Amino acid sequence: MSENYILGIESSCDDTSVAVVSSDYHVLSVKTVSQTSVHRLFGGVIPEIASRNHLAWVIPAVDAALKEAGKTKDDISAIAVTNYPGLIGSLLIGVSAAKGLSVGWKKPLIAVNHLNAHIASAFLEREKRPEFPYLALVVSGGHTSLIEISEDERTVLGETMDDAAGEAYDKIAKMADLGYPGGPIIDKMAKNGDASKYKLPYLLKNNNKYADEIVFSFSGIKSAVKRFLDEGEVDMPSLMASFQNRIVELIERKVKLALSRKKYTAFVVAGGVSANSAVRGMAENIAAKYSLELYLPELKYCQDNGAMVAAAAMDDFFEGRFSSLDFDVAPTVRPKTNPSKN
Ligand code: KG4
Ligand code: ZN
Repeated sequence: MSENYILGIESSCDDTSVAVVSSDYHVLSVKTVSQTSVHRLFGGVIPEIASRNHLAWVIPAVDAALKEAGKTKDDISAIAVTNYPGLIGSLLIGVSAAKGLSVGWKKPLIAVNHLNAHIASAFLEREKRPEFPYLALVVSGGHTSLIEISEDERTVLGETMDDAAGEAYDKIAKMADLGYPGGPIIDKMAKNGDASKYKLPYLLKNNNKYADEIVFSFSGIKSAVKRFLDEGEVDMPSLMASFQNRIVELIERKVKLALSRKKYTAFVVAGGVSANSAVRGMAENIAAKYSLELYLPELKYCQDNGAMVAAAAMDDFFEGRFSSLDFDVAPTVRPKTNPSKN
């Protein structure tokens, strides 16, 4: 069978990323233009700046990805692009570029949901895909979702009521003046701290109404950290270790709740926060305890990237499900009308 190559384009937030991925999930190239150093000046992503930079870099990133892969446009079988959820202006740049290339190169288009792309990042460079049904935890800057994936449907079992996990990391780092993005900084700092030093609240504990619900909430923990910071002198590594411990404990409890309700074959953990050392440790423990096959993306594929977009398009490609040129973008994960279908 001749190999197929998918070009994946990701521009939903602040990274412009383009990749060439083969149909056996091998990554031939990923070219990412990171805007972190720009947005760091403001302590967070400024949407208008993000979309202007995507506009400048998306086509050079396509050219560079093709070149590094040693391919030309003629070798590409389809173009995959993230169309929701994300920042509207940013999504529009990637989607417009993909549509233009599709017309110019006469290649089919596949619109990809960003959460599905994160899940598919765990399949890159792996020989096989999980059997159905499997459980996926997406923890990123914008989402904290537990999703059940069966052969023909994806069911969201639970989501966050307030901040996403990565958002909590970023907000805490901003409050404590540690830098941006907060996740990697806090993860590193927490290694030198004592996680039992600060007592942080556990909002979804056993005796409240959310005990039996798959729902996440991080704002209570965030407020408690803020109170310690406001009180003055703190042992920062220990406060960050206590914070990280609480976040991971809370996620773990809800994953276990889902696992107690149904038998799954595999556990996928993906999204920017899946790069976190404690989250990865928790995922390994759970997989061992419940005899689940574990799918964790390599560290370089945890953050937004074009390779995961191409990977998420693979099933649609082989089943011939292509998007028509007039598909839309949407900011939220559950838009009123499906932006990918017309
Ligand atoms: O998936 P992603 O690149 O973008 C979104 O789709 O949101 O995730 C970015 C998020 C940021 O909030 C960042 O702080 C967080 O991932 N992150 C981490 C770590 N590395 C990145 N959070 C915790 N620990 C890390 N090591
Ligand atoms: Zn993401």
